[in-house]
Amino acid sequence: MIAPLSWAQSLRREADCTGILVGTAVRTSQFSESAYATTLVREFNMMQAEDVMKWSTIRPDRQTFNFTLGDQVVDFAQAHDMKVRGHTLLWGRHNPEWLNGADYNPGMLSELLRDHITKVVQHYRGKVFAWDVVNEALDENGEFRSSIWYDRPGIGLAGKGNAYIEQAFRWAHAADPDVLLFYNDAEGEAVNHKSDAIYAMVKDFKRRGVPIDGIGLQMHIFDLQPNVASIAANINRFTALGVQVHITELDVPLPTDASGNLRNPSDLLKQAEIYRQIAATCLSHRGCTALQTWGFTDKYSWIRSFFRGNKGSALLFDNKYNPKPAYRALNQAFGAAGCSP
Ligand code: G3I
Repeated sequence: MIAPLSWAQSLRREADCTGILVGTAVRTSQFSESAYATTLVREFNMMQAEDVMKWSTIRPDRQTFNFTLGDQVVDFAQAHDMKVRGHTLLWGRHNPEWLNGADYNPGMLSELLRDHITKVVQHYRGKVFAWDVVNEALDENGEFRSSIWYDRPGIGLAGKGNAYIEQAFRWAHAADPDVLLFYNDAEGEAVNHKSDAIYAMVKDFKRRGVPIDGIGLQMHIFDLQPNVASIAANINRFTALGVQVHITELDVPLPTDASGNLRNPSDLLKQAEIYRQIAATCLSHRGCTALQTWGFTDKYSWIRSFFRGNKGSALLFDNKYNPKPAYRALNQAFGAAGCSP
């Protein structure tokens, strides 16, 4: 059982004390739900649009930029003194059909991407403090994923490794020299082939003055057995390069039956321990400057539909916004590093 919580000890309050940002992905469609908005404001000092700053929302067609929903994220954040991460300017997946289906040549695609990055970053200048410029460009072995931006047909840099990524960072920096620019990916949280490839890219970018400020470690933890020592070593080597690390999409899905009931209720305690360890690891590295979960209530999470009902309960609050052991653990990890007596 979780002991009753004093909301004076909210995550946000503890995080404000540590100086580390604590955030969540948000869905604008839920801002009008009182429990959603209340919990969001009470617990977090940073937020990121789960979907509405992606091409799929901002670009309904080639001519149009629709910032309506993205602006709602910014407005909500500003009204409640929260920071906004931007997500994402370039991704090979989940792009609009008009973009996937068209017959572009590299010159046209390059201009389309330059225009998109420039207009979106300028629109949110001074409102978004950090962008996931490029999302998930590498596969699990650290090889470049085939995508419309890289090689199908690409923006003119196909076969040239991270050159198209570098170009995206340079365009973003030109649009807003003050915003922090991140490379964001999954499966590279620990030291492995993929994080080796990301590390080599970031090291090369830093050496050549390519404007990169940080990497996002997504941290979707699917197996209840993360190698925390290896994650710590990985964070260590990245921060030693002089870039920040943000944990960007933390969640810990648990096995469930088709009704959403946990197969093993004791998994909640294992999940809590994972949240605690990941937070403690971030908090112990000066360069790990933000920890963000991918949503905060199990009522709204990508996990159940993605895993077709076989996994769920991945977040800090249950469907009714009751705090789970994971919340308590995260709160205590922040408290231990911050101002709690
Ligand atoms: O909004 C429409 C709705 O009108 C329609 O009825 C419904 C029918 O399927 O689709 C809705 O759009 C969905 C959208 O989420 C909003 O809920 C899209 O189909 C669905 O593909 C989209 O999924 C998102 C996915 O990225 C793709 O963009 C998930 O919410 C989001 O959690 C997920 O987030 C990604 C990160 O961006 C990158 N890292 C991995 C992470 C999880 O996959």
